[in-house]
Amino acid sequence: MNQEQQLATVKQFTVNKLANDRTGHGMDHINRVVKNAARIAIGEGYDPFLPQVAAYLHDTVDEKIVDSVTAAQNEVKGFLQKIGMTTEHVNTVMETIDNISFAHTLEGHQIQLSKTAQIVRDADWLDAIGAIGITRAIYYGGAHGEVIYDPKIKPRKKMSKQEYRNLDDETIINHFDEKLLGLKDKLFTPTARAIAEYRQQVMLDFLHEFHQEWDAKA
Ligand code: ADP
Ligand code: NI
Repeated sequence: MNQEQQLATVKQFTVNKLANDRTGHGMDHINRVVKNAARIAIGEGYDPFLPQVAAYLHDTVDEKIVDSVTAAQNEVKGFLQKIGMTTEHVNTVMETIDNISFAHTLEGHQIQLSKTAQIVRDADWLDAIGAIGITRAIYYGGAHGEVIYDPKIKPRKKMSKQEYRNLDDETIINHFDEKLLGLKDKLFTPTARAIAEYRQQVMLDFLHEFHQEWDAKA
């Protein structure tokens, strides 16, 4: 299989896994992350092939989505070997998809990520900010029974992975302060940072208008 065929096969693997996802990790998210990854890779002068492969697969081993992370990892790895990817490529893709989740960055273990992993994490995080990021936060919050906003509940920062997971009084608006507004400065690549500048302003404008209308000032 050439790389183009491998990429199409990887996409189909992901479609089979995530086509029915309603948690914000469906194929629309995946396709945007793949496009972001290609855009960032090209901007960084890096071959977009592995970033695109890893972007397709990045949510297929997520603990929020699969029952057993280990079983899912083994399945993805076996699949990549079966379609003829080199051991080096398989290892890079697996390292990428194992290490890019947001929760990992709260653990404090700063492992050195490969360029591919840096690109895919940036691509994933770009999809959590800007207009799409606003939409996904509202969608997620609604699906999880969060209230929209409560001025009495102050945003919490620097939570541990466990605390972040166990929040039971999260509000959609606090999610911006606790996570989304901080993503821009944690991006790895200059290309993603440049894209994030505009998206950050979209979120800040949205929050400003939100508070104006909340207080009936606008
Ligand atoms: P990822 O895409 O990295 O797997 P998550 O599964 O953590 O991210 O989140 C999926 C989407 O839902 C993201 O856009 C994220 O900002 C949003 N989200 C996650 N947790 C919350 C929350 N508690 N309230 C509102 N939105 C959230
Ligand atoms: Ni994702």
